[in-house]
Amino acid sequence: MSNGSSNGKPSTARLFEPVDIAGLRLANRVVMAPMTRSFCRDGVPGPDVAAYYRRRAEQDVGLIITEGTVVERPSAGNDPGVPWFHGEAALAGWARVVESVHAVGGRIWPQLWHVGALRSGSGSWRPPQPFESPSGVSRPGKESGVAMTEADIEATIAAFGRGGADAKRLGFDGVELHGAHGYLIDQFFWDGTNQRADRFGGATLADRTRFACEAIRAVRSATGPGFPICIRLSQWKQQHFPARLANTPQEMAQWLEPLVDAGVDVLHCSTRRFWEPEFEGSDLNFAGWAKKLTGLPTITVGSVGLTGEFVASFGGEKSEPASLDELLRRLDREEFDLVAVGRALIANPDWARKVREGRFAELDAYDRSVLAELA
Ligand SMILES: Cc1cc2nc3c(=O)[nH]c(=O)nc-3n(C[C@H](O)[C@H](O)[C@H](O)COP(=O)(O)O)c2cc1C
Repeated sequence: MSNGSSNGKPSTARLFEPVDIAGLRLANRVVMAPMTRSFCRDGVPGPDVAAYYRRRAEQDVGLIITEGTVVERPSAGNDPGVPWFHGEAALAGWARVVESVHAVGGRIWPQLWHVGALRSGSGSWRPPQPFESPSGVSRPGKESGVAMTEADIEATIAAFGRGGADAKRLGFDGVELHGAHGYLIDQFFWDGTNQRADRFGGATLADRTRFACEAIRAVRSATGPGFPICIRLSQWKQQHFPARLANTPQEMAQWLEPLVDAGVDVLHCSTRRFWEPEFEGSDLNFAGWAKKLTGLPTITVGSVGLTGEFVASFGGEKSEPASLDELLRRLDREEFDLVAVGRALIANPDWARKVREGRFAELDAYDRSVLAELA
């Protein structure tokens, strides 16, 4: 059914209709994309972080996915300002974040993160123990930290499980595992960083999903049924942008089906430009294919409402507000279920409110200078 408005332009009605995702009712389909802001001293999200998320929730964001927050491993993080998802003080900080988002009717999931072998692009800070990853490389030929033992792997899976348990205990509405962008879970997926000969490695992509699957199972067994579990995935790796895990829909099915069997409910398909076709012969994007192949609800992301993509924006490129027509057309034909918005929501805490009310001319451009403050 078309939501086209009388002037032939797609309307935003579907974007702002309530939706049930994995048993969770959301007020609309707008998701705040997870974005590291590095404003947490000693890993503790403070009142400024709570206010930052609340500001988006009270202005019509249907679901907030928090910035990556690290599981309990000594070298899970690569930046001192990143929030922890363990320890009394950090978890108390997160409880305040949940409370302030819920107070305005919002929904929120934490993004559980482990950086693996990827050091931060900026700064010389190092965690107290060496970075750990499947094979001790951050990309082919680039050594970084140590290869994990099986005991390290088991402990890390357990740490993800505890993260899930804490997410539920603190009142979060679900949880996302960061399985994208070349970080730990993705380092297991990618043969460029996973050269293990044990059961966590293997020649096929399906073999290399084992770590992710066990992390998902650990979260599921800690949370029980009915608690939404999402995994964020990407083909691209920040250490090697042209990398692709799946070159055909069949390979993508090999990658996603084990994750579904492990108990994931939602797939968050990270691309830099949502309109790019994933495979030749169809204009479906990654989220479109993931939904088609698995039947699960999916989240699309990548330059929604902006002219330029986010990697170039870190290099200083400014992104101007852009038309939503193509996004709305794809949403209208049910290519994906939810739409994550990143930088546009940093530049405009009221992005969803303004879009809902058709106040497009009032939207601000994004450039990296807005990262200096947590506004
Ligand atoms: C400042 C910044 C921090 C980010 N941090 C994370 C993160 O912690 N976890 C993650 O999965 N993606 C992260 N991303 C990627 C965003 O979630 C999103 O996928 C990307 O910005 C593309 O969406 P956009 O074009 O709407 O900004 C970050 C992006 C930005 C700009």
